[in-house]
Amino acid sequence: MIQNYAGQDISDYDEYKSQNRIVSTEESEEDHDTEVSLRPKQLGDYIGQIKAKENLKIYIEAAKQRGDSLDHVLLYGPPGLGKTTLAGIIANELGSNLRITSGPAIEKQGDLAALLTNLSNGDILFIDEIHRLQRSVEEILYPAMEDFSLDIIIGKGPAARSIRIDLPHFTLVGATTRAGQLSAPLRDRFGVLLKLEFYAPDELGEIIKRNARLLGISINSAGAAEIAARSRGTPRIANRILKRIRDFAQVKGDGIIDGEIADYALKMLEIDDKGLDSIDRKMLETIIKIYGGGPVGLDTLAASIGEEAVTIEDVYEPYLMQIGFLSRTPRGRCVTRLACEHLGMECRGITEPDSDSRQIDLFEESDGSEK
Ligand code: ADE
Repeated sequence: MIQNYAGQDISDYDEYKSQNRIVSTEESEEDHDTEVSLRPKQLGDYIGQIKAKENLKIYIEAAKQRGDSLDHVLLYGPPGLGKTTLAGIIANELGSNLRITSGPAIEKQGDLAALLTNLSNGDILFIDEIHRLQRSVEEILYPAMEDFSLDIIIGKGPAARSIRIDLPHFTLVGATTRAGQLSAPLRDRFGVLLKLEFYAPDELGEIIKRNARLLGISINSAGAAEIAARSRGTPRIANRILKRIRDFAQVKGDGIIDGEIADYALKMLEIDDKGLDSIDRKMLETIIKIYGGGPVGLDTLAASIGEEAVTIEDVYEPYLMQIGFLSRTPRGRCVTRLACEHLGMECRGITEPDSDSRQIDLFEESDGSEK
């Protein structure tokens, strides 16, 4: 048996590596603890996401002036960009309580009914991964969002009757990485739709410097810029890399993260200058070597590299698409010439997707495209 430092069996090293990627956007327990301690509490301290922030500022101000609850808000975008952080800021700016739950945690209608009936006027109910709500649970959310009422059936068979309970005027903040998977009736009940984008390197650099200061880590601008350029536009990844590089700076340097030590550590972590790790490279190389650069269907690709299709869609693809390395066309996934050149591979057979093959965005899903 091969064990890691924590005594876990890592005999299947490929499996272990894919679940412990430093560039994974999935939130680990350690990430959770770090993120909670670093979360800004005010909109003014939230860096980047300018469009979402400006809109939110107006809606919050308007709701405060009217003395009304804020309209329901849907936050969508790739994981790790700060959706929960933003929900916390909304609650804080409104001076409201925040209740946090997630789609998969609400198993039955009764679970949601219990949550809703325990809210007070103005409370924020945050439902993470809202696209994973059961349809039966979703159905009781419709009147709750629209009329602040709960219709519940009491009893069974001929004796069953429906009663209506009034709910406090709460605000639902839903978060999803999969806006396209939300049913139309649910999506239509959100008054405010905010898309979170990957952060630009200078914004991420600012977040890294702020977090380094709060964590007591010494870093200079070049060190922050190096980490920012290689963190896939994602604060969760930047924070994780920051903490790993602190160890390198302590052992191999003078404790200060500068550009040189950051570059050295990132090389040791096998993260290249675009933030790609070995699994991204394997995926792109497979499309080039085996499928001539694509198009290749999602399920075929997943089987070829031994990953789950949903992981490829949610975790690997969004960033690769953002940097122009991959395109999702109705006929399948295609690697671009840019990616091929980055990998230093033979690019002659690689053609760019034709102009009529559009990119599929987050709000689209089951649209008949090759999966
Ligand atoms: N942590 C995560 N996202 C952030 C942001 N946008 N600004 C500051 N800190 C963050």
